[in-house]
Amino acid sequence: MQPVTEENITDLAAARWGTARDPRLAEIMQALVRHLHDFAREVRLTEPEWMAAIQWLARTGQISDEKREEFILASDVLGLSMLVVQMNHRLEPGATPATVLGPFHIEGSPELAYGADMSQGLPGTPLYISGTVRDIDGKAVGGAVLDVWQADTDGAYEAQLDVDEARLRAKYASKSDGTYCVRTIGPLGYSIPMDGPVGDLIARTDISHFRPAHVHFLLNVPGYEPLITHLFQKGAQYLDSDVVFGTKAELVVEFEPREPGPTPDGGTSEVPWLLAVYDFVLQPKA
Ligand code: BEZ
Ligand code: FE
Repeated sequence: MQPVTEENITDLAAARWGTARDPRLAEIMQALVRHLHDFAREVRLTEPEWMAAIQWLARTGQISDEKREEFILASDVLGLSMLVVQMNHRLEPGATPATVLGPFHIEGSPELAYGADMSQGLPGTPLYISGTVRDIDGKAVGGAVLDVWQADTDGAYEAQLDVDEARLRAKYASKSDGTYCVRTIGPLGYSIPMDGPVGDLIARTDISHFRPAHVHFLLNVPGYEPLITHLFQKGAQYLDSDVVFGTKAELVVEFEPREPGPTPDGGTSEVPWLLAVYDFVLQPKA
């Protein structure tokens, strides 16, 4: 029997996990063991601290369900999600940058026509987002599906509410010339959920728990790198302190105030509205 010591425990555990039959799993588990052990050594982790961490992880799992993704939130506020996005989406200059998915995307949103309203009369200033979908060589991408979602003016996503119908989310398709038009309401900045273990931890810091006003987009077009991104409102509060590190200068867009009158979908607005013009630029698959 090999004696286990403080000095050799890391090598022993790494060697054991290195037996994973999938070589990538072996690589990941060995690195995980080494970094975890180094972390515990660096901070000289005490037993009460270790137990507090275990209980925090347990609460993170217990509060999660098909609508609440507390582990994604934890990854987001630690900057891990954005690091993984950046490493895996090193796009050409000019391509629309990717940012975090976040915990509130819902599959299967209804398909809406060009310029149709995804806000279904919810209170807020009408917002049209329009432009083209194209590739980095300037070629129009027709038939691209733009999966769009956002929070309401109270900062709540459908996934946080008990509702039966799709709310502030929809799929729009670009026309053959690449043009698209989304009709929604102006988003506001909002707080991430603070009533769980992630919020408990943040409340013990000076971290701002807000995100700047934004609308989410997911474009998964055959032949192109999938794009998960947001458009942020220029001048919005919290652009410099986004709690999930998701902002990028290229994704900040003017939401221009417009007087009542013609709108980009060919209709007319009776009330003042906002216009955001943005071209999504996709990178062909490697
Ligand atoms: C969001 O933008 O929906 C979001 C992203 C990360 C954490 C919380 C919310
Ligand atoms: Fe969001």
